[in-house]
Amino acid sequence: MAKALEVYTKGTEAWFPDDKEGWVMGKLTAKTLAGDSVKLAFHIDSSGQDITVESTIPKLEANKAADLPPLQNPPALDGTDDLAYLSYLHEPAVLHNIKLRYLQQSIYTYSGIVLIAMNPFAKVPLYGPDIMREYSGKRREELEPHLFAVAEEAYRSMIQDKKNQSIIVSGESGAGKTQSARYIMRYFATVESGGSSSGGDSEVERSVLATNPIMEAFGNSKTTRNDNSSRFGKYMEILFSTPTAANPSVRITGAKIRTYLLERSRLIFQPATERNYHIFYQLCSGAPAAERKDLGLGSWESFFYLNQGQCGTIPGVDDAADFVETSKALSDVGISLQTQWAIFKICAALLHIGNIKIEAKRDESHIADDDAAMLQAATLLGVDAKEFKKWITKKQIITRSEKIVSNVNQYQAIVGRDSVAKFIYSMLFDWLVKVININLSKEGVEAGQRFIGVLDIYGFEHFQKNSFEQFCINYANEKLQQEFNAHVFKLEQEEYVAEKINWSFIDFNDNQPCIDLIEGKLGILDLLDEESRLPSGADGSLITKLYQRFAVPTQKFFEKPRFGQTAFTIKHYATDVTYDIDGFIEKNKDTVSDEQMAVLNSSEFDFLKEVIKIEEEVKPEVASPVRGGRGPGATAKKPTLGSIFKASLVKLMETIRQTEVHYIRCIKPNSAKAAFQFEPPMVLQQLRACGVLETIRISCAGYPSRTQFEDFADRYYLLVPSKDWDPNPNTLTLSIVRKVINDDDKFQMGLTKVFFRAGQMAFLEKLRTERQRACVIMIQKNVRAGVYRRRYLRMREAAIKIQTATRAWQARRKYRAMRETRAAIKIQQTVRAWLARKRFNRIRDAVVKVQATYRMARAKAEARALRRLRAAIVIQRVFRGYRARRVYKAAKQRMVLLQSCVRRRIAVKEMRVLKAEARSVGKLKETNYKLENKVVELSRTVAARNEENAKTLEKLAAAEEQARVWREKFDKADAGGKSAAARVEEGSAELKAELAAVKAEKEKADKEAEKVAVMLKRRDEKIEKLEEAIRAGKEEYAKLKAEKNAAPPPSAAAAAAAMARPGDDSDSAALRKEVTVLREQITRLLAGKYRADRVADQMLAAATSPGNDLHTAGPHGSNGHPYPLETRSSVTSQIEMDMAAAAAKARPRRHSFVEGQPSPVQERPPASNMPSTAGGAALPSPLTPRKSRANMMIDTALGVNGPSTSPMSAGAGVVLEAERSLRVLEDKALEDEIIDALVTNLRIPLPSTQTVATRKEIFFPAHLIGSTVVRLLNHDLAGRMLAVMTNVMKAIQNLTMKFEDDYVSAFWLSNCYELLCVVRTTQEKERASQRRRNISGEPGSGEAERALDKVRNDLDYLLIEIYHGWIKELKKRLANMIVPAVIENQSLPGYICKQSGGLWGKWGKSSSSGQFTIEQLLNFLSKLSKTMRCYYMEESMARQILTELLRVVGVSAFNHLLMRKNFCTWKRGVQIQYNVSRLEEWCTSHGIAEATLHLQQLLQAAKLLTLNKTSPQDIETIFDVCFLLNPTQIKKLLSLYYAADFDSPLSPELLKIVASRAVMNEKSDILLLDLEQAPDFAKPASKSVDVIERFVPAWMSLPNISAVVSGN
Ligand SMILES: Nc1ncnc2c1ncn2[C@@H]1O[C@H](COP(=O)(O)OP(=O)(O)O)[C@@H](O)[C@H]1O
Ligand SMILES: [Mg+2]
Repeated sequence: MAKALEVYTKGTEAWFPDDKEGWVMGKLTAKTLAGDSVKLAFHIDSSGQDITVESTIPKLEANKAADLPPLQNPPALDGTDDLAYLSYLHEPAVLHNIKLRYLQQSIYTYSGIVLIAMNPFAKVPLYGPDIMREYSGKRREELEPHLFAVAEEAYRSMIQDKKNQSIIVSGESGAGKTQSARYIMRYFATVESGGSSSGGDSEVERSVLATNPIMEAFGNSKTTRNDNSSRFGKYMEILFSTPTAANPSVRITGAKIRTYLLERSRLIFQPATERNYHIFYQLCSGAPAAERKDLGLGSWESFFYLNQGQCGTIPGVDDAADFVETSKALSDVGISLQTQWAIFKICAALLHIGNIKIEAKRDESHIADDDAAMLQAATLLGVDAKEFKKWITKKQIITRSEKIVSNVNQYQAIVGRDSVAKFIYSMLFDWLVKVININLSKEGVEAGQRFIGVLDIYGFEHFQKNSFEQFCINYANEKLQQEFNAHVFKLEQEEYVAEKINWSFIDFNDNQPCIDLIEGKLGILDLLDEESRLPSGADGSLITKLYQRFAVPTQKFFEKPRFGQTAFTIKHYATDVTYDIDGFIEKNKDTVSDEQMAVLNSSEFDFLKEVIKIEEEVKPEVASPVRGGRGPGATAKKPTLGSIFKASLVKLMETIRQTEVHYIRCIKPNSAKAAFQFEPPMVLQQLRACGVLETIRISCAGYPSRTQFEDFADRYYLLVPSKDWDPNPNTLTLSIVRKVINDDDKFQMGLTKVFFRAGQMAFLEKLRTERQRACVIMIQKNVRAGVYRRRYLRMREAAIKIQTATRAWQARRKYRAMRETRAAIKIQQTVRAWLARKRFNRIRDAVVKVQATYRMARAKAEARALRRLRAAIVIQRVFRGYRARRVYKAAKQRMVLLQSCVRRRIAVKEMRVLKAEARSVGKLKETNYKLENKVVELSRTVAARNEENAKTLEKLAAAEEQARVWREKFDKADAGGKSAAARVEEGSAELKAELAAVKAEKEKADKEAEKVAVMLKRRDEKIEKLEEAIRAGKEEYAKLKAEKNAAPPPSAAAAAAAMARPGDDSDSAALRKEVTVLREQITRLLAGKYRADRVADQMLAAATSPGNDLHTAGPHGSNGHPYPLETRSSVTSQIEMDMAAAAAKARPRRHSFVEGQPSPVQERPPASNMPSTAGGAALPSPLTPRKSRANMMIDTALGVNGPSTSPMSAGAGVVLEAERSLRVLEDKALEDEIIDALVTNLRIPLPSTQTVATRKEIFFPAHLIGSTVVRLLNHDLAGRMLAVMTNVMKAIQNLTMKFEDDYVSAFWLSNCYELLCVVRTTQEKERASQRRRNISGEPGSGEAERALDKVRNDLDYLLIEIYHGWIKELKKRLANMIVPAVIENQSLPGYICKQSGGLWGKWGKSSSSGQFTIEQLLNFLSKLSKTMRCYYMEESMARQILTELLRVVGVSAFNHLLMRKNFCTWKRGVQIQYNVSRLEEWCTSHGIAEATLHLQQLLQAAKLLTLNKTSPQDIETIFDVCFLLNPTQIKKLLSLYYAADFDSPLSPELLKIVASRAVMNEKSDILLLDLEQAPDFAKPASKSVDVIERFVPAWMSLPNISAVVSGN
């Protein structure tokens, strides 16, 4: 006991009951222990009240500390999503927790196996298809508590355990049962259709869902508690198909509804502000005018049955619109419009019955004969009005001998009238249920079919005045509660047994005696039935019987109220309820009289009769087992309502017992239907009523807390010293609990878990916190010590440093002073020395000067004497020299004068002679010189001429001869001249004598010179003539040349021959090429195992020889070409004409085939008969007429090359080639080959790492197909083209829809696009040529254009289809990867969260999906990106695919994070941020930076986790940082935020701030991002393809296609 008290320390929080709030929290302020007495003082903050608890230890020991107030749980458990984890599990804790969660707008909470659902009374974003998808396939512990989690659990266990399931939804009226059941059904319909709720519903699902509006229209009404209150219980079994190996998917195949206890009295009476069943109001406001008139309908006010509540409309509900919906739902479940109107007719009749006026006449009742309402009702029901009226106002009593008819009083008549109406309505309701059941089980019930039953039944009711209905309802709840308790108990027990712990059974409040009291033999129900069957039965006598039987002390559950004699009390499990006996008998009997029944049975309205017949179907099945061996009797035959209900309840219990049960408890948080308002007393009362507290009591009696050893040891190891830390968690756990709890009753060791009594966990937690606190203080102490010591050491060090520095500075200063002194002394010393030296020098200098001056004066006097002596000597010498020289000069002058005179005379004489001589010789010399020049000139000219023309050399030689002669003559003259000169020179002495002779001679020489000049002139002329001749010669030569070029016949031939040689060469080369082609074909044919070997050989020989011939003929060609050009062309044209004729003949047949005949190969006449083989006709074919296609080709080949000598081979070849390809084109084999080799069985080139495939190697199928298209169009085969292309596209579609691997899809996506481009380009070309043709007036058919258009459109679709198909497949594969890789993957080693992350570590084990890492995800994307690049995928397409995938990654991860519970910790935020940044990096490095936009929300969510969340400013920051998230999302994330160790949990105040912000922007309350909302596929713009490649990969053998393609 001391231990129990120990927990109460100062500051401990505990709960105290409160009238308004249920429970309020108080804090312990003082605790006094004096001897045995205990005194605890608490202070309640909210009210300011002080409470003191006083007790004594023995007293506490006696009542197990019940006197002490219940304790508050540790703060970490605030708002936990499963009440079972509360350590102190009691009423206040449960209430507090639920309240906290509800105010955070978390409406769902688990309480062990039960889901508690609080009615939000507001639209909450929790039920969208995206949320359903999130819950689909997840385990319950993984995500936040939700309805869908329960539904999912049921669904999965149904599939896995192959067991039927039930979901029991209970709660007060207006708590949200029907709403929840509806969501559950929708969940099944959605999950079953594969998660896409959009349009995927099958007809069955639609009709299953359509039952809701129908049942609600006929069975729901407005009550004070709920605007749409179900006035009946409903158990709906949703039937699922059994998964088989062939069809593993599970789908809804039907449904079965059972209803319980329709509130019949509502039809005839409604309390104020309540309404009758919706259908009547819907009918009154929604029926079309014509029908309204037929049925006599008015507004709701005019009907007594509708206007008693004075409230005909519900705010926010449009009855007219609902009428349309009801009618549609009726059609959906298969009720025809005609039947619908029959139903409505009955409804209208009921309303009229209510308006029948019954008046009192004395003691009798009376109805006016012309009562309009009665007449109308009778008409509508098709009964006789008189009879009808009669049996309302009269009754018949059958005695043994006679029938007595008597009048009844007004009250009885009204009761009779109303019971008819009630009877008909309840039959109508049953009929509807029956019809719905028939229609919903159309598919036929398979053996062992599984179902999930959803029970939507009113919860425990306790009003001011409780009647028979409440009795039945509470009875049902009592039974359900028993079932529930047993279930919980069983589960608990199972766990104990499985863990093999010692447990002695806890007695829980079993309510079996209470049930026995009601339904047991001679129980209340039996007594009631007995009384009802008595004709004189009345409520008064019943209550007396009850008192007699049960008001005894042994009966603990029955109580007679102290006052009054009209009521009894039953002590239900929830509370005691007092029932008013008034009306029990009447309500239990609830029948119409036999006479009224007969009237109805005689109705002319068949539908009514059918409806009434239901009674017989429903009741006997119930009646027989209940009624047992009772004797027959008129009244005994009719089962009572009570017995029917009891029987159906027994059946329901049987069903439920055979299923696995899931419980949902709906709670109405306030009576005002206000959103998120919490009324604690009301909730508390419901918690009691729905058994949640009861369950808690049960589990508290045992060991409510349990933990796995590992988790326990992990969390509490610190409670024992480290030497006890055992690596085995089992022993460690034991040593912990032994040491800490030390009371064997308080815990139990199981096999894998340790079990604790209530409160122990909190105790442990408290110890742990204290221990941690102590540790923290210890660490703080040491850290602080360390810090201070470090600080001290630093200071000391600093002081020393400062001292050192100061001393150093001082020393330095002293040293400097010393140095300065020394320096000063030295300076003084030097200065003084200097001064002394200066003085000394000055004195010395003075002495020296004086000495010098004296010596100078003496030297000067001496020098003057010496100079005077020398001057005297010089004067003497000069005078003597002058005298001698004057004498010599005079003698010499006289001698020279004499000599000069003599020499002058001689010289004059000599000069005169020389002058004369010089004049004559100069002239001659001049002439001679001129002549010489001329000769030189001439000779030079001649030499030039000589060189110019070798051919005229002879003539020139003659001229030269002459010139030489002349030169000789000239030489002679020259010589003469020279001799004359010589003579002149010789005779210069006797110049005068010879002068005459010389003159004569000179004249002669002049003459001669003249002659020479003349001759020279003549020679010049001759030279000119010769030059003339040469020019003429040249001209002649040029002329000859020109003539040569003008090519007269003989020379032209020679020239042509010269030209022809290269031409021949090229011809032969072409032929050679053709030969090789042919050779190739032949070898291929051989390889193809066609039986044409011999022919092929022949042909080979034949084909080779002409080539060789021509080849060898080449060299001879220069001598003379054997085939003149003219002849050659004429032959060719001749053949061409033939061929054209043949082709023209062949054409029409071809067209007819295109139009209609499907298999042209078989229909075609044998090839040898065809005119197209004309060229080869000469060669008899060795083959049978039915030739294979290959042989035909050989034929054509022969046709080209057969007659080896034929010069026309090339020209004919072209035509034949065309013809051949035409035939190939028409051939079905071509199409087959395209589809087979190019599409279906194509070995797609895989992107290998070593070699990079070129565009050509990738796009060859597109190009080959494109090129075939072009060929087909060229041959005007548009129709054929279209057919081929359609088949090709179909083949591609088939291929790509299989999704074997990405390569196929990527390859074909690329190729289709390429093909589309090729087709477009072709179309453009076609258009251009069309335009040209139009201009030139040629008619052109639009057929090609249309066909191309069609092909293009189809290709467009195909492209989109491949894209969508592929991306869907990729998404599917990606789906498993996203969450583990992006959310769960932890790549940063410093921030690892333990996988469990749960508070005690027992929640949410590691995810079920595989362990993908972010690397794997990136690899996946990289591989995809590489594949696309390798296939040259069009840039924008590749980009779209990757972007879309990244969008899916971002959205899925974000949505998952938003739903994940106990996961969002700070560390997770860091990890996720890192993962996202990896993704972003990837995006940028792959050039799709825009895709990172899709990751932003996720990134911000992760950031939010890492941000501070302690103050309102932090919240502000969060909203700023996470601007992409809407307040709802932020709120959700914050409420999910889970504080790990040492992180402080979010305070509820902050959550309130966030919630208020979220409310402010209620518009944007979408919680999850839309996964489906993929952007449309933007088809890339087509590019034009300039060259259509005809590349065929080496490894492919495509005889037909290559034939066609190479023919272009
Ligand atoms: N999950 C819910 N979300 C929003 N509103 C709800 C939800 N559940 C119940 N309600 C509100 O409560 C009202 C009563 O619910 P209903 O299911 O008809 O109660 P019950 O069947 O228990 O009487 C509904 O009309 C609706 O307005
Ligand atoms: Mg309901």
